[in-house]
Amino acid sequence: MGIIKSIGILTSGGDAPGMNAAIRSVTRSAIYNGLKVFGIYRGYKGLVTDEIVEFKSQNVSNIIQMGGTILKTARCKEFTTPEGRAQAFENMKRHGIDALVVIGGDGSLTGARIFAQEYDIPCIGLPGTIDNDLYGTDTTIGYDTALNTILDAVDKIRDTATSHERLFFVEVMGRDAGFLALNGAIAAGAEAAIIPEFSTEVDQLEEFIEHGFRKSKSSSIVLVAESELTGGAMHYAERVKNEYPQYDVRVTILGHLQRGGRPTAHDRIIASRMGVASIQALLEGQRNVMIGIENNKIVYVPFTKAIKNDKPIDKELVSVLHELSI
Ligand code: F6P
Repeated sequence: MGIIKSIGILTSGGDAPGMNAAIRSVTRSAIYNGLKVFGIYRGYKGLVTDEIVEFKSQNVSNIIQMGGTILKTARCKEFTTPEGRAQAFENMKRHGIDALVVIGGDGSLTGARIFAQEYDIPCIGLPGTIDNDLYGTDTTIGYDTALNTILDAVDKIRDTATSHERLFFVEVMGRDAGFLALNGAIAAGAEAAIIPEFSTEVDQLEEFIEHGFRKSKSSSIVLVAESELTGGAMHYAERVKNEYPQYDVRVTILGHLQRGGRPTAHDRIIASRMGVASIQALLEGQRNVMIGIENNKIVYVPFTKAIKNDKPIDKELVSVLHELSI
């Protein structure tokens, strides 16, 4: 691959607040550094079906404050086939696109890794997912906004929990990761978090009830991470109804409202930093890495590392939640 003169940018997988700030940053930084930019619509789908438009600086004006993604997003079946990727490569060549910046989660970066390997295309990933489940970065674009959304919701649920002296199970997203549940619980002052990372080790419901539910409090809020491993909030509510019928239990599933809304300052800042870093990385000759932020410093994480490894839960956070929920 020769000198990079032109890049394509796409968002893929679940949308996340801050993706627009990232699109703006990648576009402006590329133009600032003399590169041509193409916006690719609907993720990898647009690469296959040729929904590719040249972007100028004005195309990304007035979007930093918006949730969702102006490029739209999709989970694309065609791109998982060799034929689909061949078509995508043809379209890239026709537009003269030399490199790709992909904003998305685990599945999106997996697609980038395969495509990059097959066609020797420089690809840079930006971690865009509310789940915060990518290895090698302290935080992902959208995670902070989703946490704040959870916080607002739980603050409201608390009014009813307290007034009616109820036990609430609030289900949050995260796919197979418990970051939103655990940090959401700490921030919202919830009594416990039930997360997939511990689902095989202990009975988290029993632990929570034994730890002191109703010993000193008349209401409780437990955040449950969605996941086949936890079984979700409904599963625990059913169990409580059967095993501890004396408790007045309710369930709230927060669902997709966690994915929307104006990005927080934190998400806008990391998206802006990561976007600039993605262009720097390409110009330095970096290939097939995800841009991460560790200890507030930009890092390059090889795709294979970012995707394959499970990001560990910090045990200190678990202790904090445990100690403060007495
Ligand atoms: O990866 C982001 C996420 O919101 C997960 O937390 C959730 O499991 C999934 O996407 C939901 O996907 P969809 O919007 O396709 O239902």
